[in-house]
Amino acid sequence: MRYLIGIDIGTSGIKTILIDERGGLAARAFKEIPLHTPRPNWAEQDPADWWRAASNTVREAMGAAGVPAESIAGIGLSGQMHSSVLLDEQDEVLRPSILWCDTRTSEQCRWITEQAGEQNLVDWVSNPALEGFTAPKLIWVRDHETEIYDRIRKVMLPKDYIRYRMTGEYAMEVSDAAGTLLFDVRERRWSGAMLDAIGLPAEFLPPTFESIDVCGRVTEEVASDMGLKPGTPVVGGGADNTCGAVGAGIVRSGRILASLGTSGVVFAHTDDVRVDPELRVHTFCHSVPDKWYLMGVTLFAGGAFQWLRNTLGEIEVSAARMLDTDPYELLTAQAARAPAGSEGLVFLPYLMGERTPHKDANARGAFIGLTGRHGRPHMIRSVMEGVTFALRDSIEIMRELGLSVAQVRCTGGGARSSLWRQIQADVYGAEVVTVNAEEGPAFGAAILAAVGTGVYDTVEEAADDLVDVVSTTEPDPETSKSYEECYGIFKSMYPALKPGFDALGGMVEKQRSRN
Ligand code: XUL
Repeated sequence: MRYLIGIDIGTSGIKTILIDERGGLAARAFKEIPLHTPRPNWAEQDPADWWRAASNTVREAMGAAGVPAESIAGIGLSGQMHSSVLLDEQDEVLRPSILWCDTRTSEQCRWITEQAGEQNLVDWVSNPALEGFTAPKLIWVRDHETEIYDRIRKVMLPKDYIRYRMTGEYAMEVSDAAGTLLFDVRERRWSGAMLDAIGLPAEFLPPTFESIDVCGRVTEEVASDMGLKPGTPVVGGGADNTCGAVGAGIVRSGRILASLGTSGVVFAHTDDVRVDPELRVHTFCHSVPDKWYLMGVTLFAGGAFQWLRNTLGEIEVSAARMLDTDPYELLTAQAARAPAGSEGLVFLPYLMGERTPHKDANARGAFIGLTGRHGRPHMIRSVMEGVTFALRDSIEIMRELGLSVAQVRCTGGGARSSLWRQIQADVYGAEVVTVNAEEGPAFGAAILAAVGTGVYDTVEEAADDLVDVVSTTEPDPETSKSYEECYGIFKSMYPALKPGFDALGGMVEKQRSRN
């Protein structure tokens, strides 16, 4: 039997899985990674932490599976998108990675848009300049940390840094390159025009591959440390979103995914390049060769629920410890005691600003409509509903762009709760299904490795063979109707509160510069 390894460099931690060629899970290992927020809206991680955790989880998974190193046909890497890794002449990491959810770069985004011109951004890189993308982070370092910028020789993304450490190869693949704002998404190659317009050297960037291409082999030293065979092939792999999509079978047009991880993502496969004329959703390269996708991102989805657990869920956290259960289960059981619509309590999940559709780093979270009647069940439910309404914003844009949304595949934390699945079906007005992709992006990365090493011929064939629908939730017409009204109110809240959000952002900025 042949085996595949998938490694996901996530924001909350690093996950490694080992699957057999029929998709069966042989082992999994996970290590949490600290997230540093030196200032509000800043988010950083240390690439050394990723590498340590990647090595440990591979070693642990190999040990747990007990399979011979020769049986590993290949390794696929997946990772958080956009986060910068800057290497010097000696390939040492120059500063902590500035993460995808860090929104310090608003000024740099404005500058990039001026330098390139809005229409050129569409023509050259198919996307607007957004705080989370990689290019604005590089410009921020150039503006604020000149000494570090001058020493940059290579720019990598998280999973590509891990590939470099495993294989000694500098390589990136198209699905992650697409999120740098330096990549011609249409032509699947670096955009010289964009690099010139903002004065970044092409030498910073590694060569790019398709996700299934083998672009490195495990070195002797790493192999002996991790329990692998030297020379084990490592394929391009993909962004966490494309790997998650591959693992959920979103490999043909007409398929849509709603994934509720730290961020919430609505992902629609397209056979051709489609660009939203208003640039509210991103257009990126898929990990399926020569295919693309449209994606809307809610920056804090599961993240907002985690915030709720940490701030208001102390009771459930201690009860869960005593009962040896998951605090989220106790929280969702509380939420089920409140009716759909949370009796008029609306939650805006913009705790880290928002991407789709507002593109606003100043957007803030809010509970709106609190009355004396509202208790914790309402607050918990309204967080689940607010996150779902935010995802519906992306689904509406997909519908406007002519995609049919009759069925949504859902993954991530929001897929595990039957209440959240029902809320999603009712709010989207679509059938919601789950698939046997419990391991998320790491599973998709392992599938890409299976295709890249000839275990399967195509990504479509592998996904058809390995991904099955395991549950179906139909929308309830009555509840769907009542959610229509709530959604309308939810949509009206952001524009009404925007001046207040801007004023708060300005105030915090002033206070910070005084200190
Ligand atoms: C996508 C994005 C996030 C990260 C999460 O554009 O920023 O979904 O990929 O890891």
